[in-house]
Amino acid sequence: MKIAVLPGDGIGTEIVAEAVKVLNTLGLDLQMEQALVGGAAYEVHGHPLPESTLKLAQESDAILFGAVGDWKYDKLDRPLRPEQAILGLRKHLGLFANFRPAICYEELVGASSLKPELIAGLDILIIRELTGDIYFGQPRGRRIATDGHFPGTEEAFDTMRYSRPEIERIAHVAFQAARKRSKKVTSVDKANVLETFQFWKDVVTEVAKEYPDVALEHMYVDNAAMQLVKKPKAFDVLFTGNMFGDILSDEASMLTGSIGMLPSASLNAKGQGLYEPSHGSAPDIAGQGIANPLATILSAAMMLRFSLNQAEAADRIEAAVKDVLAAGYRTADIWSEGTKRVSTREMGDAVVAAITKTTIKG
Ligand code: IPM
Ligand code: MN
Repeated sequence: MKIAVLPGDGIGTEIVAEAVKVLNTLGLDLQMEQALVGGAAYEVHGHPLPESTLKLAQESDAILFGAVGDWKYDKLDRPLRPEQAILGLRKHLGLFANFRPAICYEELVGASSLKPELIAGLDILIIRELTGDIYFGQPRGRRIATDGHFPGTEEAFDTMRYSRPEIERIAHVAFQAARKRSKKVTSVDKANVLETFQFWKDVVTEVAKEYPDVALEHMYVDNAAMQLVKKPKAFDVLFTGNMFGDILSDEASMLTGSIGMLPSASLNAKGQGLYEPSHGSAPDIAGQGIANPLATILSAAMMLRFSLNQAEAADRIEAAVKDVLAAGYRTADIWSEGTKRVSTREMGDAVVAAITKTTIKG
């Protein structure tokens, strides 16, 4: 089992190191190879996604990814910015299916900005299409406007588009995921305004006929943003396009207390996957040893389950994370009065200790 380890920038290196440490305690035959990505790769190779890194990713069964980005690269031409690394990996590997679970751990109910009763027991799965929509649609660019409100002036434009097969394949992913859960899908669109999302809604409705056991509801994205904070537990599988999914998954993550807890998986049709925390590179706290490594550790668990067929090892990691939370270990982002404030490394060590104990007992 070959894993490409791409820590990236900012807190990426610190949190990925903890996830690797956890993976190494499982006694599995994992071949991990590390490479540069994002700003770190730009510094050395002059490109955020060097050929060698892409090749390693393509040849691996799975990719463990940290985070990319730093304000200091904001002035670079777009193709050289760190974010292009993750977008390039998604595109080149065809990672169209993004899973972002938003789970509220019992111990962290108080860390959410919402009332405990609204979020206790929360368990939503966001399924975000990841290789289409306005993120990748062509044409895009800048030009002098020839029409519109101000002809003759500078303008910028992007293209929102989805093809039928793109919508169909991600809809199947959503319905199949729902079958393993509460059998309910909320498809989020903006069909009242956008042709792309009227089409999305139509195609999803057609695909739904193949899943008569799954209830499908449609919701406009503005309403979904509101319902997520009003009554989050009413959602089970929240299914949407690339851009709406980007926004709603950040919103959903905050319901759970901290974005530092949320893993994600991005899969292609071959079952190859990229696993990364849902949060970014947090350059403001990089190098301080205070970042929460749990989202990355939980991403490693998703990797074992989805791409490496090691569900039992994944269970052990997830159980260990629950154990350390129950034991009161907290990084700064989830700390509250009466709990133990720990560093990034101490949190990783605690997870390792919880796993080894399980191993001895088992
Ligand atoms: C995410 C991130 C990325 C996105 C950025 C870094 C390109 O925000 O994974 O949600 O917008 O998809
Ligand atoms: Mn995002």
